[in-house]
Amino acid sequence: MAGLELAIILPTLDERDNLAPLLARIAEALGPTGWEVLVVDDNSADGTAEEARRLALGDSRIRVLQRIGRRGLSSAAIEGLCATAAPFAAVMDADHQHDPRLLVPMLAAVRSGEADVAVASRFAEGASMADWGRPDRERLSGFANRLARRLTGVALSDPMSGYFLLRTETARTLAPRLSAIGFKILLDLLATSEKTLKISEFPLDFAARRSGESKLDRAVAFDFLAGLYDKSFGRLIPTRFAMFGTVGALGVLVHMAVLYLFLLTAGTAFPWAQAIATFGAMTFNFWLNNFLTYRDRRLTRPGAVLRGWLSFIAACSVGAFANVAVATTLYDRGLHEVAAALVGIGIGSVWNFALSSRFVWGRY
Ligand code: GDD
Ligand code: MN
Repeated sequence: MAGLELAIILPTLDERDNLAPLLARIAEALGPTGWEVLVVDDNSADGTAEEARRLALGDSRIRVLQRIGRRGLSSAAIEGLCATAAPFAAVMDADHQHDPRLLVPMLAAVRSGEADVAVASRFAEGASMADWGRPDRERLSGFANRLARRLTGVALSDPMSGYFLLRTETARTLAPRLSAIGFKILLDLLATSEKTLKISEFPLDFAARRSGESKLDRAVAFDFLAGLYDKSFGRLIPTRFAMFGTVGALGVLVHMAVLYLFLLTAGTAFPWAQAIATFGAMTFNFWLNNFLTYRDRRLTRPGAVLRGWLSFIAACSVGAFANVAVATTLYDRGLHEVAAALVGIGIGSVWNFALSSRFVWGRY
């Protein structure tokens, strides 16, 4: 029996019905041995992981990595790439949009050293998206591709492709430095590597999804922008902190709106209006952070949301205390009040961020 050469990483979210037919197509393309399939499932509600285990019982080339409490195509792909002993690995969609027959020439190109990364491209000469049936997504992809090429300097026709093959050693070397946000894993790998990776492109006939729905429509634009931010400024100010700070700034607007609402229309006394506004702003910040900043760890069960909200308020109180203490000290030492207030706000935000990312949205 030939040794293990190629791992096919299939990130999945609600792909139960696509698995069995896809495995049959992969086996047909690759022959009986030398490969394994690793299904990296984010605890899909439709029982994808169960289905993968059922298939694996009858076929030892199939493995399952079931992730609980985590989300994201990129991070699923990275964990898959790091969880195989195979020297080569491919990442592909589990929904039949990517033709498994391309694996053979892609593997040959990387194995021979002709390329570091083989990319199946929807935009290469000879590729087609006619069967996809989504001209809106086609246009969006074209636009995102141009923007990504401009900003990251990678020169290939489809840096957004979700279908590529490389040496697992390359992936393991880069893994600690990847931003792992959203689903732009290929772009992330290429932009992170200091050495320019040699790329071979393979024209792909991008098919329509076989069963179920695309998971990328909802978060597509947001994750893409977050990923670009992360690659451009992420080292200076981490992406999550930048989002947290932006949400905080919006919270100030909410605070002012609530404050004036109570002062002007209800005639509430200032201390009460200020307290209500503070409470309102904290609640708004909790909600928006849960929705955006920590969308990959979003609290959804009512009990968890309630506990999260209360601990967020507790965390913010600690931040507020640090804020006032630092600002007062600096002010007493003669710093201008605006500067003292700004430093206080900065320190308070770091505390809020550190505490809430650990105790509200973290696992400890
Ligand atoms: N584990 C895990 N976690 N898997 C996920 C997640 C997630 O959060 N989100 C999506 N997936 C899986 C899907 O189940 C599917 O197998 C694959 O990742 C791609 O997701 P789709 O929902 O099929 O994405 P798409 O077809 O709209 O997007 C395709 O085109 C993009 C470019 O426009 C993909 O090939 C993307 O990789 C590609 O960037
Ligand atoms: Mn798809």
